[in-house]
Amino acid sequence: MRVLVVGSGAREHALLLALSRDPGVTALMCAPGNAGIAKIAEQHPVDIASGEAVASLAKKLDADLVIIGPEVPLVLGVADAVRSAGISCFGPSAAAARIEGSKAFAKDVMAAAGVRTAHSEVIDNPAKLDEALDRFGPNWVVKDDGLAAGKGVVVTTDRDTARDHAAELLENGHPVLLESFLDGPEVSLFCVVDGETVVPLLPAQDHKRVGDGDTGPNTGGMGAYTPLPWLPDETVARIVDEVVMPVAAELVARGCAFTGLLYAGLAIGKDGPAVVEFNCRFGDPETQAVLALLKSPLGQLLNAAATGTLDQVAPLEWYDGSAVTVVVAAEYYPAPPRTGDVIIGSDGDGILHAGTKMVEGQVVSAGGRVLSIVGVGPDLTAARDDAYGKIATVKLPGSHYRKDIGLAAVEGRITVN
Ligand code: GLY
Repeated sequence: MRVLVVGSGAREHALLLALSRDPGVTALMCAPGNAGIAKIAEQHPVDIASGEAVASLAKKLDADLVIIGPEVPLVLGVADAVRSAGISCFGPSAAAARIEGSKAFAKDVMAAAGVRTAHSEVIDNPAKLDEALDRFGPNWVVKDDGLAAGKGVVVTTDRDTARDHAAELLENGHPVLLESFLDGPEVSLFCVVDGETVVPLLPAQDHKRVGDGDTGPNTGGMGAYTPLPWLPDETVARIVDEVVMPVAAELVARGCAFTGLLYAGLAIGKDGPAVVEFNCRFGDPETQAVLALLKSPLGQLLNAAATGTLDQVAPLEWYDGSAVTVVVAAEYYPAPPRTGDVIIGSDGDGILHAGTKMVEGQVVSAGGRVLSIVGVGPDLTAARDDAYGKIATVKLPGSHYRKDIGLAAVEGRITVN
């Protein structure tokens, strides 16, 4: 099977590494890729937002399967264009990708499916902002009702901060979603979905704030670990039954069946799981940890979903132990980052590339999240040691990373009520 992966982050690097372990995958291609991906896949430049360009590249490369990593092409209908060209595609249609692209659509689907989620209101008129803010708090959750790569979310106990963020979004023409705050530890559960067939992967936890101890602004994600030692065994099945299956069935009923990766971001509160958000693709950086433990062939799994045969796939097998990924970010990230610095030690086992490119034979930084370092081990402590040991070998001027990925779990500080 010839596989083309669309995207250029550490998530795509992780997908390609897992695909390279699948004996059924005969050719690995990536568009556009990055300096690390170049070592394991043939790279091709493409405008990933153009369905026509991606479909025609896939045809030229004689791809049997196209896997679309990021949300923007999915929301723009790139998967539809690839399927229209007669090529199997792992990724939802534009209609189904609204589960991430429009938070208002996601709320409507969840309400119809009877899925627990935060109470929310969409505000598009600045004159209504203050009275709406008064209906929320003491924790305000303010979101951009569109795609914002995680950075459009502000969670704060300070009303002025909430107001400033909402006002700025409105000034820029973006409707604002105000949500009630969901209590409880967060879980990312990725499910491979084909219509009403749902196959969950290992649960993971992201660390969205930039600083240790969950301080500072939100980012695209600074690190993750899997599995979750504090999560009761039955919770994954409960999330599948109470959340993912009903949403998948509701999308089928609306004529926009989901084919791809449905990512449920949840808070596990005292009444059980409640949805913080849905995404229509693999999460970054959780994918880097989750796929490090996948023993089953990834290409066969994703191809089954893309071709409507997911119900025939054997139960997934996983390696024992834990995996941790730690993101090395460029100076200033999540503000506009410093780029163009030479990275020392960017090559090696478990060093996945995101914002990197080759310049005159050297690997240089080219984005906010630069590398994802993956550690594995028999338990979470060992996996953390492995990841942080690898990070010590990487040198990027001005870079920063969180020192506490998975630490609260190791120290037993996460509990489910
Ligand atoms: N892990 C956050 C995201 O992928 O959106």
